[in-house]
Amino acid sequence: MQKFIIEGGAAIDGDVVISGAKNAVLPLQAATLLATTPMTIRNVPRLKDVSTLAKVIEGMGVTVTFDDENNIYTDTSTIEHFKAPYELVRTMRASILVLGPMVARFGEAEVSLPGGCAIGTRPVNLHITGLEAMGATVVVEDGYIRATADRLQGAHIVMEMVSVTGTENLLMAAVLAEGTTIIENAAREPEVTDLAHCLIEMGAKITGVGTDKLVIEGVEDLVGVDYTVLPDRIETGTFLAAAAISGGRVKTLNAAPDTLDAVLAKFREAGAKVTLGDDWIELDMRGRKLKAVDIRTDPYPAFPTDMQAQFMTMNAYSTGIGVVVETIFENRMMHVAELMRLGANIRLEGNTAIVAGMPELRGAPVMATDLRASASLILAGLVAKGMTTVDRIYHTDRGYERIEEKLVALGAKIERVG
Ligand code: UD1
Repeated sequence: MQKFIIEGGAAIDGDVVISGAKNAVLPLQAATLLATTPMTIRNVPRLKDVSTLAKVIEGMGVTVTFDDENNIYTDTSTIEHFKAPYELVRTMRASILVLGPMVARFGEAEVSLPGGCAIGTRPVNLHITGLEAMGATVVVEDGYIRATADRLQGAHIVMEMVSVTGTENLLMAAVLAEGTTIIENAAREPEVTDLAHCLIEMGAKITGVGTDKLVIEGVEDLVGVDYTVLPDRIETGTFLAAAAISGGRVKTLNAAPDTLDAVLAKFREAGAKVTLGDDWIELDMRGRKLKAVDIRTDPYPAFPTDMQAQFMTMNAYSTGIGVVVETIFENRMMHVAELMRLGANIRLEGNTAIVAGMPELRGAPVMATDLRASASLILAGLVAKGMTTVDRIYHTDRGYERIEEKLVALGAKIERVG
């Protein structure tokens, strides 16, 4: 199994180009299922999750072609059946995103029920009840969600919880439903907005984009378009954190500063100098002292759960005490035990972590438990004295494109082995 070996102590310094957002490209890949003509998606990061979803739709008969320049071309005219099998869905829960578009366009979809995952049980009840409200018949049997419908009907849906992929799935279903659908308490994450913009270019009629109330007027069909994925705000935040923790400087290029307000506010509170342009963010920590900050994760525009682990590591190597509260997922604190192996001083009480900053972390072998946990361990390795080995980095490859190459270019000493 591949690992990262990191020698701590080098300050990050330089420019890094941010890739397209993983969580934006996945729903866009699912949205290609709605297009009656070929479609192009650009700025696609080369990630395990992206190839998994490509396999899911290829398995249905869709023609999917990747080129060498981060573009994907899809053609749904060759589609043959409507099943997303367990073998693929179990490796990536976001495969559930094909459910809405398939039932909306073909009146039929069969998607394996995603199992639990490391960060919690993560149910999909909101996806199912939303489709039922639009008139689909949904049965869960033999580990599969089977949905059928003649034509979906517009409905008034009030989401019980803010769900990102839940909102995306129902939005992709509603665009082809007959009549008007209103989705209230919709997720406002930039990736939902990116999907809505793409659907509008494809011919969908959506208002309220970027708010928690989406109003969708169903249309008869949608066409393929040429769409460029928005920059990854979590990758951006992770590189900014690398500069912050190492006392260095980084300029993230091809970024989307307006998607990171809550995160940038916390970097400033932690003592960093942050400057922005239209599509870049620079963080300078040289000669500054990293201070612990309190974090509470919540749906966008509040602080994202996907940056929680990285800030935990920053707190662990700061001055002061920071309290980190995770409100989105019930089991997203597994990096705490690993960070403690590196000398972090953290007390965990349920989903609250009280982190007392330490002047020194020490290298040790650690294990990544999920995608963002892996990022937090890499950040710790950048500053820990001696060598840190991060195992199970297949988690990292699910969501960070060539992270070690980008870090090496910034001066880090990190190597992939195995
Ligand atoms: C998405 C992101 C993930 C991010 C998360 C929260 C993608 C591919 N993944 O995951 O990176 O960490 O948003 O910002 O975009 N819930 C239910 N029932 C449902 C659906 C969700 O109870 O039917 C609960 C979940 O268990 C969780 C909360 O709602 O507690 C939010 O989950 P959700 O927004 O759906 O996360 P994902 O869309 O899976």
